[in-house]
Amino acid sequence: MTSHWDAIRRHWQLLGPPLRPPPEAVEAYERELQLQSADLLLLGVTPELAGLGKTLLAVDESAAMISGIWPGDTDTRKAVIGNWLDLPIASNSVDAVIGDGCLSALDSSTARLHLLAEIGRVLKPGGRAGLRLFAGPEAPDDLAAVRELTMAGGVATFHELKWRIAMSCTGGDPDRAIKVKAILEAFDALFADREELVSATGWDKAVIGTIDVYATSQASYSFATAAVLVEEASRHFSRVRLAPTGTYGMAERCPLLVLGEPRR
Ligand SMILES: C[S@@+](CC[C@H](N)C(=O)[O-])C[C@H]1O[C@@H](n2cnc3c(N)ncnc32)[C@H](O)[C@@H]1O
Repeated sequence: MTSHWDAIRRHWQLLGPPLRPPPEAVEAYERELQLQSADLLLLGVTPELAGLGKTLLAVDESAAMISGIWPGDTDTRKAVIGNWLDLPIASNSVDAVIGDGCLSALDSSTARLHLLAEIGRVLKPGGRAGLRLFAGPEAPDDLAAVRELTMAGGVATFHELKWRIAMSCTGGDPDRAIKVKAILEAFDALFADREELVSATGWDKAVIGTIDVYATSQASYSFATAAVLVEEASRHFSRVRLAPTGTYGMAERCPLLVLGEPRR
């Protein structure tokens, strides 16, 4: 997986919402979790979240992502290499855990449950967590309808289109996984003429080209439904709820999964 994220890092500046959290989504983390005085663990090195908390430790398995997109260590924040499924920190040691899209970066229900258990382990009593989801729809979108919506100007960004296609092509429950290479193949089948897509949407061709990095990737993502993710989270936390993260394109599929009272 690290080589996949190393490649993504090279075009990180071309990514945008809903993949990256816009300011209103960052506000949702603060509003829902009350982070000002918290010792915080960040899963990944999402730069938009680096200013949150009283102190912040970011854990990411990719040295390239840390050196490439992390805004830098300070007196109050630090990024370290580590695996979320075996977090390099003590039990009961942080007030809050946050992560942006991290459940979709895992490719199975088993891995998601493992991460949820790890989050519960490292939280102090009274701790809470917030994970922005990329939650797939209950019934997959019809791809021809996705194309029609896109050509009519109804999709806000290329990244929203990429996620709509990905969410429509996953395998079945419980994993709802998809090889990222299959996202590219579905996109190419739907939009064989990229110039036509550029003309219809006004999107930058370089931004559209970011999807080509998937061609040689071995990685898989997952896009479980919000209901499945709430059920999985409920196995490890007594308090589970979904909070909105704004009004940007596809925000309705990107709620914050808010977790409290880890089951021990
Ligand atoms: C937080 S996720 C999603 C970020 C962004 N919202 C998006 O969708 O592109 C991306 C980061 O997760 C890291 N990552 C993925 N799986 C990981 C794991 N098991 N342990 C540690 N880091 C992981 C990657 O290296 C990458 O930097």
